[in-house]
Amino acid sequence: MKTSEISQLLLDAAGLGIRLYSWQRRLIDDCSRFRVVLKSRAVGGSFTIALEALTQSLLHDNSTALVVSYSLRQSVEVFRKMRSLVSSLRRVRISEGGAVYVLDTVVRESGSYLELGNGSRVVSLPNNPDAIRGYRADFVYVDEAGMFRDDSGLKAAVMLTTAARNGRVTLVSTPKGKRGWFYEAYKDAMEKRTWSLHRIHYSMAPHISREDVEALRKTLNPLEWAQEMELEFLDEENAAFPYEVILSCVSDYTPKPHETDNPVYVGIDFGRYRDATVITAVERTGEEKLRIILTRELRNQDFNTQLATILDLINSLNPAAVYVDKTGLGIPLYEMLSRKAGQIIGVTITAAVKEALVVTLSNAMRSGRLVIPASEEKLITQLRVFRAVQHGPRLGYGAGGREHDDYVISLALAVYAASRHGEDEAMAARFWSWG
Ligand SMILES: Nc1ncnc2c1ncn2[C@@H]1O[C@H](COP(=O)(O)OP(=O)(O)O)[C@@H](O)[C@H]1O
Ligand SMILES: [Mg+2]
Repeated sequence: MKTSEISQLLLDAAGLGIRLYSWQRRLIDDCSRFRVVLKSRAVGGSFTIALEALTQSLLHDNSTALVVSYSLRQSVEVFRKMRSLVSSLRRVRISEGGAVYVLDTVVRESGSYLELGNGSRVVSLPNNPDAIRGYRADFVYVDEAGMFRDDSGLKAAVMLTTAARNGRVTLVSTPKGKRGWFYEAYKDAMEKRTWSLHRIHYSMAPHISREDVEALRKTLNPLEWAQEMELEFLDEENAAFPYEVILSCVSDYTPKPHETDNPVYVGIDFGRYRDATVITAVERTGEEKLRIILTRELRNQDFNTQLATILDLINSLNPAAVYVDKTGLGIPLYEMLSRKAGQIIGVTITAAVKEALVVTLSNAMRSGRLVIPASEEKLITQLRVFRAVQHGPRLGYGAGGREHDDYVISLALAVYAASRHGEDEAMAARFWSWG
């Protein structure tokens, strides 16, 4: 019996009404030691590896399967997928062609750990090479492998973990630039060497409806679309923020915007291109870092609702300064805000101002001052595709094609606010010290 047939039986026993697609069966039945799965967003990558990890654990007594995710939140999500499968399976017997699989499955479990009746365990871990090194694993799955920061550390840890047991390694990801372990494995697979390649385009996942696709298309710019849905590894050429630089700023923490005593700076990009207004808040920590503590997107809200939400946020964050885009249609919002709250500074975003904003943001990132939470996927994607574009004789910045840079501009405004504000204070201090 094929492994995928066991997986299907598990799904049937769980009563989920899911029939595995042919690519899922091919993947589950591909017993290559090293596999790389290049996929569009939402096709079912995490789902498939969670299912496979469980199936393999049931089939191999006393085995260990690790599912590694790039953030704690992701690892919790993957674990939840496995748990929900298992919890509907307690004490199920599957007999098929003489073989009987007794699935009185979970013996012990914790927040990230399932121990099965046959002595196998399935562990879901966030990106932490030290934690990974603590295991000897038969199966390692790395979810969204392109999103990992320290990926040479990860690679070394995974290889070490699997070496002793001849363990299998599977990398799953949407493409994230021509860099890192995932891209390396993909290139190797293209040359048909060590890695076995699976390409999963969204058209191979019928649960993503035509309407879903059209809705997604509206929220992604052409470069994001190419990367997230069309499986393209984008060049770093002209990227305002190379991916290594972005990832060096990413840290795995849960922002707690209302629990900070540090000075807070807010940037607001008024939504004109896709009717979304984006608000970003950063705090300046004792170590002079600028940590993102909030991003909020206001979508399909009328002017007064937006205004009320923003005022609420300003009241609760009590920022030292709020920099608001007051270009064109942003003017009325800026005017209303400055009438109702203090510390509001309007910025008219001309090409030259945009350049200054981008340079300030870029400096904060390259100097390691900016800290981005790993959960801010949308911001990370927008930063990734934000690039220098030639506008006639001058170099401008943008997201390419339709403008989808609202997260970037909102963040740039907040960082600009923090750096300008620092300068103003320093200037005032110097002024007073002159007496
Ligand atoms: N064969 C299938 N039939 C129907 N729905 C599926 C199938 N495989 C996966 N899905 C669904 O696809 C959705 C997205 O899955 P997920 O694993 O989160 O995607 P990804 O990790 O690729 O972004 C899930 O809700 C999952 O239930
Ligand atoms: Mg996923």
